[in-house]
Formats: sequence, structure tokens, C-alpha cells
Amino acid sequence: MTEQPSSDALVLFGATGDLSRRKIFPALYDMLRHGRTLPPIFCVAHSPGWGIEELRAHAHAGITQFGGNGMDESVFRNLVSLLTYINGDYEDPATFAELRRALEGRQRPLHYFAIPPSMFPVVVRGLAEAGCTQDARVVVEKPFGRDLETARALNATLHEALPESNIFRIDHYLGKEAVQNIIYFRFANSFLEPIWNRNHIRQVQITMAEDFGVAGRGRFYDSVGAIRDVLQNHLLQILALLAMEPPLGTSAEAIRDEQAKLLKAIRPLAPGDIVRGQYEGYAKEEGVAHGSDTETFVAARFFVDSWRWAGVPFIIRTGKGMPVTTTEIRAEFQLPPQRVFSLSEAGPLATNYLRMRVSPTVSIALGARTKNAGDRMVGRPVELYVCNNHPDEMSAYERLLGDALDGEAMLFARQDAVEAAWRIVEPVLSHRDPACAYEMGTWGPPEADLLLAGGRWHNPRPPQS
Ligand code: BG6
Repeated sequence: MTEQPSSDALVLFGATGDLSRRKIFPALYDMLRHGRTLPPIFCVAHSPGWGIEELRAHAHAGITQFGGNGMDESVFRNLVSLLTYINGDYEDPATFAELRRALEGRQRPLHYFAIPPSMFPVVVRGLAEAGCTQDARVVVEKPFGRDLETARALNATLHEALPESNIFRIDHYLGKEAVQNIIYFRFANSFLEPIWNRNHIRQVQITMAEDFGVAGRGRFYDSVGAIRDVLQNHLLQILALLAMEPPLGTSAEAIRDEQAKLLKAIRPLAPGDIVRGQYEGYAKEEGVAHGSDTETFVAARFFVDSWRWAGVPFIIRTGKGMPVTTTEIRAEFQLPPQRVFSLSEAGPLATNYLRMRVSPTVSIALGARTKNAGDRMVGRPVELYVCNNHPDEMSAYERLLGDALDGEAMLFARQDAVEAAWRIVEPVLSHRDPACAYEMGTWGPPEADLLLAGGRWHNPRPPQS
């Protein structure tokens, strides 16, 4: 990979907001704790009455509550020593003039937009007019638009001020250790490639389950729903990594080329390919519109129109209010061609499978059958299981923020991939059946079974396994 010069300033727009508190300050703290040197951090927000003290308390509370690694006050003091606070309205050029003065002498700032997407154009233009985009990078958070058209409009706004190579679109799933392990496991082993295709795989299921509801984000969630919140981005990115062709070389672009190519080969969804659900009680959540039809669950069947995958269903489901919180992939192999032991085995043979747990723990398992001890040719299903957890693993945000500061683009979503993913879901954003009700704590509405054509769902076990 080509060495890029690191950013020499971090500008955090939306520093007083929820994303900064939950994810960004804990990630910055962890970077220092792990020994990384950080540049000065300029925190910008429009929160009248706030100063550096309030910001300090906000960061401290976020790290304590969401950091997951306790609080080392000396590391925190180090973080605070890097912070400057600029309070100002994003519509007011004076805010950007002040930022410009603060950035004096800095050559390559990284601007992080932890702000609502509706503010992106205002801030990009404010930065450009104040001369703060020269050699700058920006990090933008999903959602990247609401559909193909708005994604393109957002992109055009960013491109008014910055080249594509300086735009970093965060899909935090791409920063997860286990998600990177998907490509590592596929391309660092030789045994998988010969069987990783339609001749040997009969279906792939991906389940992203969360055992909580909208968790205080009712207003935001109701305007988005499961398709836009996680299917169009996190889950299609996983599918792309699972199914893409081997990259030609080791560059970030080689991997991103294959991801984008794969997404372009996925057939756009038809209404019969999805089932949407809504957990009972959702409509009473704070911020949710009366009579809302927003889905909190979606199951969808995808097909990849390629030589390798023709005819193999990739079935993805995700939901809030499910029995467990976990994300798991399960690729099922074909049955053995003949039942050599059929006379002694009771019941149908289970298929072989590859199971990859992506979250919250990281593990890989191969499902196989082995013979029970004794004189009969009777066996049982077993799993060859590897747990890949590391006690002080980098969070996705720590990794992605570090990569953005270093100009490393591999783990960020590229615009053509974002547009390809919108093209896949676009037909079901407007033409779809009403959401089916399901009870909290279940695996979603029974109507979702229709997508399996007689098969069955593989419900992930609780997270310790
Ligand atoms: C976010 C979604 O992008 O991802 C949330 O907006 C979802 O609704 C979250 O809960 C899941 O991420 P993680 O890392 O907690 O699995």
C-alpha cells in the first residue's frame, strides 16, 4: 500500500453530539491508550453556553460509559490537552473564519462530520469558502443519502470541494475485526476457493439480530427503517466481501474494485424478495409517527448474477427486538451426493457449513459429521470451532479513525459501491407490502419463512458460542 502523509489536525464537527460522545471520544482515548500520537483536535459545534469545560465533561462521560476499558485519568488528560473548542453556527462564515485561524500552519486537516447529513452541504461550503479544504480529508457518516438520487446529490456536494481520494465514507462494519477476517480467511487459505461457488454452496444466510428496540432513537429510526439503516450498507458490504472475486493485488483499490463489482452483479430486489416486519409496540416508541409502517425487521433474498454464484440464494435478515444480539454468517454446502451410511443413520443428514460470527464475539466454525464410537456407522454433527477474540481489540471506530488520519482508504465505502447498493434496494423502498407485526423477543414475522422455499432459518445461538 502507498504511504500517505498523516493528517496534522483533526476537526470534529458535532463534537457536542451523541456520536462524538458514544464513539469518537472513546476511539480517540483508545488510540492514545494504545500509544498512538494524535494531532491537535479542533472541536466545532453549535451549542450555546458550551466551553472547553463542558466539552471535557461530555468526552469524559462518553469514554466512561461507552469506552468499555475503564478510565485512565492520565490518558484522558493527554486527550484534553489536544482539544480546542470552537462554538459557532455552521451557517455563519465567522465560524469557519475562526477555524481557519485556529488551523494556521496546519497543512492537511481531517474534517470529521459527526453531524446530520442535512448539514453536510452547509459545512462543506463553509469550509471551502474559508479555504479549509486545500489538501484536507473529510470523513462522512452513513446514511449516504436516502436513495440513489440523494446519494448522488450528496456526492456532488462533496466533490465540489474535494477529490474522491480525500473522501472517507464510514461504514463502521467494515472496521470490525471479524468483517476483515472474512476476506482474510477466504484469501489466506487455499482450501476454500475450490468449493466457494455454486457447485458446492447451496445457500448463504446472514442474520444481524439485536435484542433491543429503537433505544431512544425513535425519531431518527422512524425516518430510516431497517433497509436504509443496516441492510443497504452494513449487510450488503458483508455480502460483497463474502462473494467477491479475489482482488488483483494488495492495494486498497484492488479490494474496493472487487467489492463494487460484486455489488453491481446483485440483482435489484423485487417486492417478492423481501418481507418487512415491525415489532409490536414500535408505534408507541417516543418519536415514532402515529401509524408508522417503518420496518424494524427485514428479510431479503438476493441473487448474484455471476458465473460463480448463479442460482445461489443469499438470504439476509435483520431485526430489532429479536431474542439475541449477534451477527452471523452461515454458508451451507451441498449434501453428500450419496447416502453411504443411510441404513444406519436415523433422520436426514445435516449439511456441512461454514459459520462466521461477526459480532459481538468473533469466531469461525466448520460444521461436519463424525462417527460415534461403537460398532455402528452412526455419527453426530460437530463443529470445528475457532474463537478469535482478543481481549483489548481495537474498536471499529478506533481503527477507522486511525486509517482516515493516515489516508488509508481500504476500509471505507467507495461511491460506486454505495450507488450500487442503493440500486439493489431502490425498487423496494417505494413498492412493498405493509410491514408484518411480530412479537418482541422472537425471530421476526412468520411470513419471512416464505423466502426460504421450504428450507429453514438458522437462528444464531446466544453470543458466548
Ligand atoms: C448502526 C445502526 O449503523 O449500526 C444501528 O444505525 C445498529 O441501528 C448499529 O444498532 C449496529 O452496530 P454494532 O456495531 O453495534 O453491531
